[in-house]
Amino acid sequence: MSLFIKKDLDRLIADANDPKLAEGGHGGGALKRHLTAWNLSMLGIGAIIGAGIFSLTGMAAANYAGPGIVFSFVIGGILCAFAGLCYAEMAAMVPVAGSAYAYSYATMGEFVAWIIGWDLILEYAFGAVTVSAAWSGYFVSLMTKTLGVEFADTALKLTKGPWETVTLASGEVAHGIWNLPASFIALFTAWVLFRGIKESATMNNIIVFVKVFIILAFIAIGWGVIDSANWIANPDASGLSRLVPLPAMVDRHGTEYLSFGWPGVLTGAGVVFFAYIGFDAVSTTAQEAKNPQRDLPIGILSSLIACTVMYILMSLTLTGVVNYKELAVPDPVAVGVDKIVALRGWSEGAQHVIAFFVKFGALAGLTSVILVMMLGQTRVFYAMAKDGLLPWFDRIHPKYGTPGTATKLTGVFVALCGGLMPMSLVGELVSIGTLLAFVLVCLSIPILRKTDPNRERPFRTPAYWFVSIGGALACLWVMYGLPVDTWIRLFVWLVIGFVIYFQYGKKHSKLRNGK
Ligand code: ALA
Repeated sequence: MSLFIKKDLDRLIADANDPKLAEGGHGGGALKRHLTAWNLSMLGIGAIIGAGIFSLTGMAAANYAGPGIVFSFVIGGILCAFAGLCYAEMAAMVPVAGSAYAYSYATMGEFVAWIIGWDLILEYAFGAVTVSAAWSGYFVSLMTKTLGVEFADTALKLTKGPWETVTLASGEVAHGIWNLPASFIALFTAWVLFRGIKESATMNNIIVFVKVFIILAFIAIGWGVIDSANWIANPDASGLSRLVPLPAMVDRHGTEYLSFGWPGVLTGAGVVFFAYIGFDAVSTTAQEAKNPQRDLPIGILSSLIACTVMYILMSLTLTGVVNYKELAVPDPVAVGVDKIVALRGWSEGAQHVIAFFVKFGALAGLTSVILVMMLGQTRVFYAMAKDGLLPWFDRIHPKYGTPGTATKLTGVFVALCGGLMPMSLVGELVSIGTLLAFVLVCLSIPILRKTDPNRERPFRTPAYWFVSIGGALACLWVMYGLPVDTWIRLFVWLVIGFVIYFQYGKKHSKLRNGK
């Protein structure tokens, strides 16, 4: 039987809607339909705004794009809008839990679906791992710098993994032991997810209010003290080059070149792409949405539009109040707040209070990213196990109506990786994994329009040839710009996936075994 055996779309949708099949045959019951359009939009914003804006923006501005970072955000927003439109069409047409995995099962066959399902672990589980480490960094900064708590040496070593270093009170630099805060937040969010989709959505709604308030407050207090001279990196240049610094850069082949104008902005777009990851996680909750055909496109596109507007305003404010050269720090928003307070002549007490709220908002923001990323992961595992490609993960908890086994195992996996793995290994893997999924979802659109033109499409991607092929090419181009190491790691990850598929998935596939 062909490796590329396809699952019929009607069967895919019917299976998801059949309560008996949806429980995976374990007798636990099906996923519960609780989510409204509002919940889905909030889940999108919950997943999108996080480490990207709170941590990476500063580095991207300082090292590559300068004040031109605002254009990097515009480019990132356009790229994601293309992918988002394709996701909206697929999610409304095929409202099942597996998202990109399920879409490719129907369009490109089982083997490609497996690759995507396996690849989505990079986006969702490793996305949660990366953000849990950023959460730990903000947590320690809030405790030590803002609240003045002194950590003993052993406690400090328990805030970093064994591959990272920490500066002790004596000034000595030592290796960490285990990043406990990162593990804690992973287990806590897994517990919330385990307790129910309604509870998870409620917690996410509260967090989104906090983080959006912090971002809007930052823009509101910063806008009035912007010094437009900060937006000019090269007064003698013209056009976009006026905004972008001129450092010597080394490209992926080790060749030095000058980053000026567009190259710096485009490299910055590759870095801040991370800030947009997450809107697609909305589509994994399709089987828990009350009216998925109407509400999934609303959730995906409205969250993307809202976040793009906030990112543009935020980056304009940040680079307008602080010179881009001072932004090469892990907490650029905190640096921005200090500058705004100084420019406004507010007291030290006010600075302290505002710094506290900004870090608290960042912590809240990162928590919802971890929550929605893990939510997406558990639903993809659930869909893969329901098709027989993975064991156990399709068990639904009889009381809470959530994929309990998938949630517990995902929580433990993210907690272990966040506590012990070197973070330099995972960050860019998340971006490349996500981009690969975007490419395949974009390509699914023209394939299905050709092979299944009469199917009902509650949402239709406008100018679909241009948007889908343009989206796929744009994602491939950003992938091309990622370092060779990241490609090697992606390749190794996929090889591990192939081994598991041929040893387990192919043998247990329900479709293959005629079940
Ligand atoms: N977009 C998410 C973040 O920036 C992954 O944290």
